[in-house]
Amino acid sequence: MKTVLSGIRPTGHLHLGNYFGAVKNFVELQDKYRCFYFIADYHSLTTHPKPEHLQQNIRTVLSEYLACGLDPEKATIYIQSDVPEVAELYLLLNMNAYVGELERTTTFKEKVRKQPNNVNAGLLTYAVLMAADILIHHADYVPVGKDQEQHLEMTRKFARRFNNIYGVDYFKEPEPFSFTGKLIKVPGLDGSGKMGKSEGNAINLTDEPDVIRKKVMKAVTDAGPKEPNSPMSEPVKNLFTILELVSTPDTVEYFKQKYADTTIRYVDLKKQLAEDLIKFTEPFRQRFKDIYNNIDYLRKIRKMGQEKAKESAQKTVKEVREIIGLTNF
Ligand code: ADP
Ligand code: TRP
Repeated sequence: MKTVLSGIRPTGHLHLGNYFGAVKNFVELQDKYRCFYFIADYHSLTTHPKPEHLQQNIRTVLSEYLACGLDPEKATIYIQSDVPEVAELYLLLNMNAYVGELERTTTFKEKVRKQPNNVNAGLLTYAVLMAADILIHHADYVPVGKDQEQHLEMTRKFARRFNNIYGVDYFKEPEPFSFTGKLIKVPGLDGSGKMGKSEGNAINLTDEPDVIRKKVMKAVTDAGPKEPNSPMSEPVKNLFTILELVSTPDTVEYFKQKYADTTIRYVDLKKQLAEDLIKFTEPFRQRFKDIYNNIDYLRKIRKMGQEKAKESAQKTVKEVREIIGLTNF
């Protein structure tokens, strides 16, 4: 059976981008494959979160995974740092990762720009830790959003390189995965770029209706189409992209038509989008609250996931140690 693996950093509530880029795929894959879904808490340390925030965010994301429909009986759901074998594999893979290629990674360059006063070694080797996550369970498929494509490419390179150096055919090269065949990028509400936790442009799955209304009403648009069939500016295109994700095809068609014949009023589009977003997120909001407050249940799920993930990770680390020559004499 093929293995699927993916992770999300615990840096706040899950938003629509996380859901459509990653989690929706997780849920749909869990019936067909051996699935590992984890919370990448080691990764989130690159930004030095306060311990109590980190704790809370781990609990939040675990609850949200479950609220989205991940089933701990089907998938192995775990916290990355509950399986420290990952850290050992990361150390071993670091020996074959070159500083030059790590410095050239787009996400690294972006982080250097965003946090120039905290360019730590964990940021530089982010892709190596991610490769360790993936290779430790021999994943075949990795459902992620478009922004993670390069990291996946690097994982494939590290796997190939390890096999070449040791003359083995041990690590598989994982493939990025999306049901649509194409990795998606959900845009933010601020006119450009992707929806992201740190961009302040996101709709969270657990946002209250009033919060959703406020965020959508503030979304960036433009002065409106002047002539029939004008091309759409990026901010307006982005609103349509989100509408397509949560509204019915009829609604989308209705507003596209209104745009094409220049009678569209963005305020109507936004009102409709806000109501459809509220409807779409309603089930998550409720389930999330119940699960988040049930700490005994969360602890039980956490332990169960840890045990299953550890078993698979320990086997890999043992085999890698043997391949490398870290064995008893
Ligand atoms: P964020 O970008 O909000 O900090 P993460 O980096 O933790 O979120 O991303 C977790 C998962 O969600 C990754 O698989 C990522 O590709 C996906 N993802 C995040 N934002 C988007 C988006 N706007 N569109 C599609 N996928 C996304
Ligand atoms: N880097 C991913 C992100 O920022 C999170 C992540 C860490 C991940 N390890 C992973 C995703 C392994 C898929 C597989 O979104």
